[in-house]
Amino acid sequence: MQDQYLVSVDQAAKWGVSLLTKCNLNAEQAAIVVKGLISSNLRGVDTHGLVMIRHYARRFTTITTRPIEIVKETETTCLVDAGDNYGILASTIAMNKAIEKAERYGCGVSSVRNSNHFGAAAYYALMAAEKGMLGISTTNAGSRIPPWGGKEAFLGNNPIAIALPGDEYPVILDMALSVVAYQKIVTYAREGWPLPEGWAYDSAGEPTTNHQAALDGMLTPLGGYKGAGLSVMLDLICGAISQNGFADHVLSIDMYDKPRHVGHFFIAVNISNFLPLDVLKSLIAAYSRKFHVIPRKDGVDRLYLPGEIEYEKYKERSKNGFPLSRAAVEQLNEVSDEFGIARLVSVDPIGS
Ligand SMILES: NC(=O)c1ccc[n+]([C@@H]2O[C@H](COP(=O)([O-])OP(=O)(O)OC[C@H]3O[C@@H](n4cnc5c(N)ncnc54)[C@H](O)[C@@H]3O)[C@@H](O)[C@H]2O)c1
Repeated sequence: MQDQYLVSVDQAAKWGVSLLTKCNLNAEQAAIVVKGLISSNLRGVDTHGLVMIRHYARRFTTITTRPIEIVKETETTCLVDAGDNYGILASTIAMNKAIEKAERYGCGVSSVRNSNHFGAAAYYALMAAEKGMLGISTTNAGSRIPPWGGKEAFLGNNPIAIALPGDEYPVILDMALSVVAYQKIVTYAREGWPLPEGWAYDSAGEPTTNHQAALDGMLTPLGGYKGAGLSVMLDLICGAISQNGFADHVLSIDMYDKPRHVGHFFIAVNISNFLPLDVLKSLIAAYSRKFHVIPRKDGVDRLYLPGEIEYEKYKERSKNGFPLSRAAVEQLNEVSDEFGIARLVSVDPIGS
């Protein structure tokens, strides 16, 4: 069992703000970005949680940014230029705009250009679901997947999240378009866990289970040509509608000295324009009751609706804090030392 360190939300938030206020943000902006990252840890999506802050700290002390700007707006739409700034900041503004528009006019759509990594797509779809709305969020990302049948990376592992307000918890699908997200391969490499077959190709397009070959190579698209096709559509939605740029124009997260040209797209739809929210919730509750009693295969203890696993984690972690692995702590300590702030974790691992 790997060493695990338990961190409280408060402790993590204070540390994150102290770091990002050294990286071109004021305390209020830093708190928004850090909240977005911690929300992933609370939902158990640690790959897109606090550990990503190291990329942000390094990027935003290397590159020049411009203020985030709303360049075009109508009653129901909004185009945001993120000015190469923090993706979580621009995306929070854009989804809030979509929600405001949906409150007034029934639906709101925001497109964002010149942005950066926005964390987990779930964060923004859930912002809408928390307001009783259907929320959809998506982003494009650096090329990591070959077109179906191709042997060179061209498609991004563009994630999409779709959320509806549920009875006890929101139903939310948040998924990348590869069999697994690149950060999951980074995590497996970092932790030294064996890489399952079917996750990655090497740089010649051949299947691999070697960590380094996978990191240097490409990701396997989810569902063959259908996943590859969905990646094309989401790239065009995020990259072409915003006139942001797409495919290999979107750079990798660790090229700190160049604009990444990431684009996002957000939709909020006000449920109460169609039916009372309570009625939708009771319909989802009825769906959930039927779903959960479907007979299970041998060895399967329980069936999960999309987002249910993350909700269970959220309930537990928002009460008790969240664990960081030793390798994650080492990465965060390295960034603390680099930027001259107190380390987040200087305690013994859980159970020691
Ligand atoms: N910002 C970026 O550029 C970027 C790029 C890629 C991925 N991501 C993020 O990476 C995160 C991880 O993506 P992923 O595709 O690895 O997620 P995942 O495979 O862990 O989960 C995908 C979805 O499947 C559901 N699920 C998981 N196990 C299930 C089960 N046993 N039964 C039923 N449903 C189940 C989850 O609730 C989730 O909605 C996401 O938050 C995504 O937004 C971000």
